[in-house]
Amino acid sequence: MCGIVGYIGDKDVASVLLAGLWKLEYRGYDSCGIAVLNGGEIDLRKTTGRLMQLQELVDKTPISGNVGIGHTRWATHGEPTSINAHPHLDCKSKIAVVHNGIIENAYVLREKLIKSMHIFKSNTDTEVIPHLIEENFQGNLLDAVIKSMKELEGSFAIAVISVDDPGKIIAARKGSPLIIGIGENENFIASDIPALAGHTKKIIILEEGQVSLITQNDVKVYNLDGKEIKKEPEKIDIAMEILDKKGYPHFMLKEIMEQPDVIRDNIKDKWTNNSINLGEKFKMSSSELASITRIIIQACGTSWHAGYVAKYLLEDIARIHTEIDISSEFRYRNPVVSGETLVVAVSQSGETADTLAGVREAKAKFLKILSFVNVRNSTIARESDNAIYINAGPEIGVASTKAYTAEIFSLYLFSLYLARIKWTLGDNIVEKRINKLKELPDKMEKVLEKKGEIEKISEKYLSAKNFLFLGRGINYPSALEGALKLKEISYIHATGYPAGEMKHGPIALIDENTPVFAVVTNSSVYDKMMSNLEEVKARKGRIIAIATEGDERIKEIAEDVIYIPDVDEEISPILTALPMQLFAYYVAAKKGYDVDKPRNLAKSVTVE
Ligand code: AGP
Repeated sequence: MCGIVGYIGDKDVASVLLAGLWKLEYRGYDSCGIAVLNGGEIDLRKTTGRLMQLQELVDKTPISGNVGIGHTRWATHGEPTSINAHPHLDCKSKIAVVHNGIIENAYVLREKLIKSMHIFKSNTDTEVIPHLIEENFQGNLLDAVIKSMKELEGSFAIAVISVDDPGKIIAARKGSPLIIGIGENENFIASDIPALAGHTKKIIILEEGQVSLITQNDVKVYNLDGKEIKKEPEKIDIAMEILDKKGYPHFMLKEIMEQPDVIRDNIKDKWTNNSINLGEKFKMSSSELASITRIIIQACGTSWHAGYVAKYLLEDIARIHTEIDISSEFRYRNPVVSGETLVVAVSQSGETADTLAGVREAKAKFLKILSFVNVRNSTIARESDNAIYINAGPEIGVASTKAYTAEIFSLYLFSLYLARIKWTLGDNIVEKRINKLKELPDKMEKVLEKKGEIEKISEKYLSAKNFLFLGRGINYPSALEGALKLKEISYIHATGYPAGEMKHGPIALIDENTPVFAVVTNSSVYDKMMSNLEEVKARKGRIIAIATEGDERIKEIAEDVIYIPDVDEEISPILTALPMQLFAYYVAAKKGYDVDKPRNLAKSVTVE
């Protein structure tokens, strides 16, 4: 999703803005730009493509000043061109705006503004904002922005500067995240915390419908009635190191390899004094939990796959009816619910628009909401009644890896926590299962040690056009996740399927050109999986199997076997994810694609 930065202070504003945009690069974008107040002018530099091109543009035609805003754009309305890149200006080039999100009434506003003789240059929704502010400007930029905010519909965050009201930045939020960084004799704006790394650890998080007036030595926040709101800065912990690949070629590989330590840290953090500790944001009482008779999990993408795994866990361990919904479906399906329904949101970023909308939909139905998120203080965490942090650490690669296994781990612990309260498992069983969890990180490391072997296997499939991923039971969502990893970074069409479904259509795809990646580890459905794979083999299908160490039978039908240590079926998705993450990584890297920033994708999808 788009990235916003802003700076006001004595440093060279263009360098600060560009450095901030570089730190947001991982979010995915297709054009970028900066605008700086320079005496009585706005100096504007913007381009399609990467930040390197913007850097070259600024090097060629330097700009100076001490107030500026910058943007990386992930195209929604209007193709990626330099005209459509942000910042956008008003008719007289006296107001500059950068924007994240979507203005849903842009067409109506544009028509109205054109009738008032405004001249538009781009075909973006964003460009209505500077013209609307120009229309409302009567000398005070804050008032003009507040007035304009009331006319704008949709979900967005904006930052505004003006030649006619200099020495300040106005930032406003209605749906998309926006953070103010408080420095010494300087202040910053960012759409995401990493942009502030190295500058400050003091932030103010703008809430819904809040507008901020930022000068070099002061930050004030107002509501849309123009009333000032007192907000205490929060301290955050962002070390510069999060933006360091630590010697790995890509953030994605670094984050794949970090997973055993993420699970170790989570065991330490969530299993204290022989009890499950779900963190400071989890306040549901035992009686509240005991009364739950139905759980609806809503999420997107990889988080939806983690939620799907949790459906099996919650039903099997806590014996609670559990549904799994894709957030963009959940938010519009008007589910039949009752007071005993718990809505669970799963989100790495805590900012995914559809999942946030699902949380708000649940709130509107007076349902209890529990969120599993990675980013602390994210919007979903703050708007949920309760939240459990998955503590995966900052995940920079657009393709989610360590967040996925950390989400499953936290959801598994929550299932055990519920099982204790609902007496579906005795304390001794829960304790036994937790102690088995302690073996997991070492087993994960054993799998990751096979990365060379998996790299070699990947070389055989670089020219594949289609892939099938098969799994059963709790590893059916594993197959879905394996397919998503491959397709989103290697651009090879890949589909995850429940293996038992093959005969109902997908087996028509099988021939020597459609490789099949199968999760066939020791489990209650092992024999069923083997029969499904026999059917694939009989049609010349090429099988890559993830199997349990010691399984000799699988060698008879699989062309390649990736062995993993034996593990209880219920937590096997944490282990089976690793070979598929590595496989997708090596295929994409060997095809020369931008593994950390795949085309068309953004790290956090903050628009519908
Ligand atoms: C995962 O690899 C994708 N990048 C994407 O599907 C992601 O999982 C999805 O957008 C949900 O993001 P969230 O977990 O931050 O809500």
